[in-house]
Amino acid sequence: MLTIGSASLRAALIYTRSRVIQISLSSRIAAMSTISDAITKDHRELEAYYKEVINSSDHDHQERYGNQFTWELARHSVGEELIVYPAFEKYMGGKGHAMAEKDRIEHHRVKEMLKEFQNMQPNDPNYVPKLKELWGNLEQHMNEEETDDLPALEQALQKAKGESESMAKTFGFTKMLVPSRSHPSAGEHPPFETVMGLLTAPIDHIADIFRKFPDKTISPNPSTK
Ligand SMILES: [Fe+2]
Ligand SMILES: [Fe+2]
Repeated sequence: MLTIGSASLRAALIYTRSRVIQISLSSRIAAMSTISDAITKDHRELEAYYKEVINSSDHDHQERYGNQFTWELARHSVGEELIVYPAFEKYMGGKGHAMAEKDRIEHHRVKEMLKEFQNMQPNDPNYVPKLKELWGNLEQHMNEEETDDLPALEQALQKAKGESESMAKTFGFTKMLVPSRSHPSAGEHPPFETVMGLLTAPIDHIADIFRKFPDKTISPNPSTK
């Protein structure tokens, strides 16, 4: 006899298979995206999820989009730490190292807030204020990435033809494997982040099956977003 857990797991596996097919098709279509395109696309998605939460008073709606926001931000942050920030250091020397270190500090601050937010319920009077506090920090960080960091990286990558597009693909695949909840104690420096990511990601992904998300009754994990 199937238990609730195994039925959910089966549904998750079927859903995952269809998502992988969709992703492989969409990654072919988006084959020429640069790493800046991929990062900026994530930023706009995060903004959309944030607005769904703060502009609603329906707790069910807020919970679904709050979980979606957490899921996307956790994976986006670790994806950058594994793929983008090491590239700053590799291609931009001392200036890149300083940029990466500044961004890691900002990530840590946001992850601490995300860890608080992800454990709150929408009926908590601090739920929206906590998200707004987080967003104030995150928005400034994303603006700096889009205005300063990523243009500098693209400039440096001009000498390495195809590298930006290749990084965009790696970033997408990496996001499938990393944790989908905030774990600030894991740190922001690879390879420690990698090891911790591999340890925590399966736990997050299984727990996601039992969380509410906007479109599905099961988690969007693992996916290629
Ligand atoms: Fe970032
Ligand atoms: Fe970012």
